[in-house]
Amino acid sequence: MSIEIHNLKHVYHPGTPLETIALQGIDLSIHMKQWLTVVGHTGSGKSTLAQHLNALLFCQEGTIKVDSISLDPRSKQLRTVRQKVGLVFQYPEQQLFAETIYDEVAFAPRNWGVDPDTVAERVENALVRVGLNSSFYQRSPFHLSGGEKRRVAIASVLSANPDYLVLDEPTAGLDASGRKDLMGLLAGLREDGLGIVLITHDLELALACSEKILVLEHGRQLTYGTPENVIDSLLKRHVYGLLLPEVVQMSHELFLKGLDVPITGDEFLLAQVLIEKVRK
Ligand SMILES: Nc1ncnc2c1ncn2[C@@H]1O[C@H](COP(=O)(O)OP(=O)(O)O)[C@@H](O)[C@H]1O
Ligand SMILES: [Mg+2]
Repeated sequence: MSIEIHNLKHVYHPGTPLETIALQGIDLSIHMKQWLTVVGHTGSGKSTLAQHLNALLFCQEGTIKVDSISLDPRSKQLRTVRQKVGLVFQYPEQQLFAETIYDEVAFAPRNWGVDPDTVAERVENALVRVGLNSSFYQRSPFHLSGGEKRRVAIASVLSANPDYLVLDEPTAGLDASGRKDLMGLLAGLREDGLGIVLITHDLELALACSEKILVLEHGRQLTYGTPENVIDSLLKRHVYGLLLPEVVQMSHELFLKGLDVPITGDEFLLAQVLIEKVRK
């Protein structure tokens, strides 16, 4: 079970003076129970990629397959793809529309024709998974804090029982504790078996939480690999709009000065190694 992207290219307004190459030469795989983060500066193509995963946009060159289903505008299985791959939009306001949180989260399963008892089960389950109890059911999704709105937006996608969850800059506008809570929630969903695709321009966040990272620069795939691969590659070549966390830069400096320390974004690990060295 995986999403496979091969040589994806997307051009907006092709053949006109507004032509923009948003993505080209993208190759990657996303597996269930895996956490992939897509990182890049504003305009690097992240949202365009997100919309391809959910069959809202289609590639003009290359291929995308979701669990072996080819994403093609003529495919008869696009509904299935949109159920398998849940997309949480960048701004909850782009997604939320119902009068109550219950109706918001019930929308997808009702739309798929699921029977009312199962709808109720799915709604309750989705809201529990994002940490919202029954006191929220009849409240308006528009009268919530930024973090709560995002939770409702995630629940409204989870109620369709997706296998993959794509989140476009879900931490935008959240404070440090809201960000931490959200990351904890996503880690729990991954543990439950979902494939997570997190989109962000926050490299530090990407390095801290991902198994795989895709780095985009002006629509091109610069690196695709583990956090260690990405650190390696960014130490060799600066990427527009992305700055390595200070702790990575510091551990790299220490390494270059001949100290046997790991080059890492984990400040606790670095501190531990340094303390052990001082003790010796
Ligand atoms: N609907 C659109 N029409 C024309 N150009 C677009 C559209 N959406 C995005 N673009 C352009 O495509 C490029 C990638 O945009 P986007 O995928 O939104 O990047 P990101 O999410 O990384 O900020 C940018 O140059 C942007 O201006
Ligand atoms: Mg975007």
